[in-house]
Amino acid sequence: MSKYKVVVVGMGKRGMHHATAFHANPRFKVVGICDIDTARCEAAAPKIGNPKISTDAAALAKELKPDIFCFCTLPNLRFDFVKAGVDSGAKLIAFEKPVSMSSTEGIKIKELLDARGVKAVVSHQHRYGEHYKKVKEIIASGALGRVHTVCGTATGWAAHMLSHLIDYTCWFNNYEPAEWAMGQAAGRGKLADLHTSPDYVAGVVHFKNGVRGIYDCGAGAPDVPEVDSSKEQKLWWRKARMGAQGSEGFAEVITNGGWRAVTKSGGYQSGSGNMDYVEDMPPYVQEMADWLDDDKKVHPCAFANAYKGFEIMSALYRSAAEGGQIALPLKTGADEIALLKAKVPDRKALMPVVGSEKEYPN
Ligand SMILES: NC(=O)c1ccc[n+]([C@@H]2O[C@H](COP(=O)([O-])OP(=O)(O)OC[C@H]3O[C@@H](n4cnc5c(N)ncnc54)[C@H](O)[C@@H]3O)[C@@H](O)[C@H]2O)c1
Repeated sequence: MSKYKVVVVGMGKRGMHHATAFHANPRFKVVGICDIDTARCEAAAPKIGNPKISTDAAALAKELKPDIFCFCTLPNLRFDFVKAGVDSGAKLIAFEKPVSMSSTEGIKIKELLDARGVKAVVSHQHRYGEHYKKVKEIIASGALGRVHTVCGTATGWAAHMLSHLIDYTCWFNNYEPAEWAMGQAAGRGKLADLHTSPDYVAGVVHFKNGVRGIYDCGAGAPDVPEVDSSKEQKLWWRKARMGAQGSEGFAEVITNGGWRAVTKSGGYQSGSGNMDYVEDMPPYVQEMADWLDDDKKVHPCAFANAYKGFEIMSALYRSAAEGGQIALPLKTGADEIALLKAKVPDRKALMPVVGSEKEYPN
């Protein structure tokens, strides 16, 4: 079987995860890698088949004409790289969450992909964890009865975590369209970060099927004491919980704390599971090959799914800045971060979780 040619841009943490997973899979050949920091490419190249190295992503893609153009840069770089990939003739663009930092740019990305008929996937890959899959399986089995609520919390701030919370809970709710969202925001510290967002965002979402989404993300989010970060601060990032409640029970996954459910027919059940980049990436990239092989095997992280979550996230931001309920789908674009910078009060967020002070020093 022929191999799909891949270019990976941004050889930081996530770029290496992607390039390593592509290289390990016989369906792909990593033909080029790019970073503005050449030393990163030089260090990576021998581990992934010595692909061509460049500091110019668009030129590299134009020259190598990959089937997959993958970029894993920080969230300030999105549209230009999607365009570079599309212009190079790539059949699939793979990129990192969040889709964009503004709905103006997100809409432009969607219009470009739609106009050119190019497939795209966005990396919400935690879903491949056994504990995430188990919770999805329980919800999909109907064991919760009538699902009325999906919810997600995380101590990490929204630019990092909200996209994950929304995507997996939308998955639990079968990517039902949202009709409106309403949110609040606190804390300005991370409005100066490259992963730009308020320190704390909380809000509700109304889905068309009547399900209510509840999101609580960042400095003010509740503790997830099942994840003990007292010895390892990096576990603070894994204090995230996502689940669904129904008329006959609930099921939830904790990013580093397994899963549990209580259902009318099954009583209390639980199991282990920790988010693991190494284990989550192989199925994520394999399903890119499957989708390229067969249009009907749409990737679960397809742009269309991620875009629904992106609109919800943008609407929560807009509501926090402007007040009121924001109707979905969005009809016009805005620069939500600029709106938030103008409106979030200059008061430090109140933090219930020990260890948060280290992450939110400002
Ligand atoms: N899906 C997940 O679980 C997950 C986890 C962590 C981070 N992320 C996301 O992944 C993205 C990247 O995060 P990271 O932690 O890998 O960041 P990183 O800082 O480790 O890597 C980014 C790399 O991009 C390079 N870069 C910057 N501008 C460039 C340009 N113009 N051309 C080529 N290379 C350029 C940088 O030099 C750096 O090596 C972010 O959007 C982040 O939110 C996702």
